[in-house]
Amino acid sequence: MTEPQSTRPDFPDASLHPQTPLPAPHWYQQAIFYELYVRAFFDSNGDGHGDLRGVIDKLDYLQELGVDCVWLLPICDSPLVDDGYDVRGYRQILPEYGPLDDFKRLVDEAHRRGIRIITDLVLNHSSDQHEWFVQSRSRRDNPYRDWYVWSDDPTGYKDAGIIFIDHQRSNWQWDEGSGQYYWHRFYPQQPDLNYDNPAVQQAMLDVAAYWLDLGIDGFRLDAIPYLFEREGTNCENLPETHAYLKRFRQLVSDRNPDALLLGEANQPPGPIRSYFGDGDELQMVFNFPQMTTTFNALATAQAAPIRDLLQAMPPLPPAAQWCTMLRNHDELTFEMVTEEQRRFLFDYYAPDAAQRLNWGVRRRLAPLLGNDRRRVLLAYSLLFTLPGSPIIYYGDEIGMGDDVSLPDRNGVRTPMQWDDTPNAGFSSAPPDLWYAPVVASAEYNPQRVNVAAQSDDPASLYNQLRRIIALRKAHLAFAVGRLELYAVDNPAVLLHTREWQGELIIAIHNLSAQPQRYTVPAAFATTPATDLFSGAALPVIGAEMRLEPNGYRWLTTFGSR
Ligand code: GLC
Ligand code: CA
Repeated sequence: MTEPQSTRPDFPDASLHPQTPLPAPHWYQQAIFYELYVRAFFDSNGDGHGDLRGVIDKLDYLQELGVDCVWLLPICDSPLVDDGYDVRGYRQILPEYGPLDDFKRLVDEAHRRGIRIITDLVLNHSSDQHEWFVQSRSRRDNPYRDWYVWSDDPTGYKDAGIIFIDHQRSNWQWDEGSGQYYWHRFYPQQPDLNYDNPAVQQAMLDVAAYWLDLGIDGFRLDAIPYLFEREGTNCENLPETHAYLKRFRQLVSDRNPDALLLGEANQPPGPIRSYFGDGDELQMVFNFPQMTTTFNALATAQAAPIRDLLQAMPPLPPAAQWCTMLRNHDELTFEMVTEEQRRFLFDYYAPDAAQRLNWGVRRRLAPLLGNDRRRVLLAYSLLFTLPGSPIIYYGDEIGMGDDVSLPDRNGVRTPMQWDDTPNAGFSSAPPDLWYAPVVASAEYNPQRVNVAAQSDDPASLYNQLRRIIALRKAHLAFAVGRLELYAVDNPAVLLHTREWQGELIIAIHNLSAQPQRYTVPAAFATTPATDLFSGAALPVIGAEMRLEPNGYRWLTTFGSR
């Protein structure tokens, strides 16, 4: 039998940990997050576009699911070239989403239910229709010229990579009117703001203050690696960027000590860790490597990729937390794997070339996993037992499908399927007025996949996920417990523990589609435990264990509650 990799001689006993005086976790360290696309969620006024009132109408649903914090995709005014990530007005709400009063009401109604609201703040770039850029490009001596990054030379910053590789050839765009090139890491309609200009730095601090004063609970900071540019670097994760984000954090915490900054940096473990600083930068950062690795482990039916990654993951400052996800509104990125792995993962998850986009796969969770309930739940079980606060992407709680016939990433942003009526309970407008068609495929149409039917069915994905969420919330060890990884004598089995204040949770996952046997590490074999799902008491865990195909178990050695 392989010995546990842990050097700890034995599992902890409550008596050995007499009420360790650990600080209470912060709200975001134990929160369940929900990523919500306002346009897709619920249309309250029948114009074919989801809106803020529609979100208010569905807050009870989110509460019932167990959501603690909703992340709204961009809600600011925008020409929507990149679905709101091209901001035309940082203090205005997109007219289709409703007036500012609706936003204030949403915050109040959410808070009344104990739900927090954060929204995207797009720092790196604005829309080319933003007044700042309109001024900037109007004349070279316009006072706003220096708010963006202009150059005569389109070969500058040549070590900076191209992100939207399927659409872009260069990060420089020629501006005929003013006779220079401007810098953009994303679409040309998203010119990068010039953070070397103190006025830009201040303007974005003022934007943050504006939303904090409206009661918002924090921000998802979009695309943070790219704020500054320096020749001879790849223009990512620069010290100047960290210094600015620390200043940003200071302002936010002074305004509201409870407010969260959640950073998006699609980067390897070292750089993403750097965004926590010494606890003085961001409180949370998305764990992109963990998302990729989870799909790698599921495809290869091997626990090693997950174990290796988590062992290599640098520790975090005490008040910090990873934000973990299976899917989001973008493509599932395979940028940070070897070329050979990428080829394998593309073949596995995106056999049809139309499913591929840039470095990734533009599909939702259920289709990626073959609409196999056991595998979807296995993936969720990994998400909820490994370190980090999990995010659920809207629709993935009911196993919604996607539509690759829609351009770019739109196929994973289709209307939420509330019921089995022809309009899916999303909108009363005729479908030709909808912002996007509902998924129509035989497997995932609203008759097959919808909230109403799943709410009524105790065995549905929705209700099984609700149970997972409730269990996770009842045991703080999942949120903040110390992680230990064990090597067991079966490569398809991942066994890890989470320990907090005397409670030890043992999570066991079978990553393969065949039943598996394995030997429990000696440290646990004689331990009495309780199965968290069935509530059954196990006199001892036992040395030999069996797991169903893609099965998982959560055991607590602290008795049931
Ligand atoms: C982030 C967003 C993505 C957007 C990009 C540019 O990566 O998640 O949707 O296109 O930033 O703002
Ligand atoms: Ca509407």
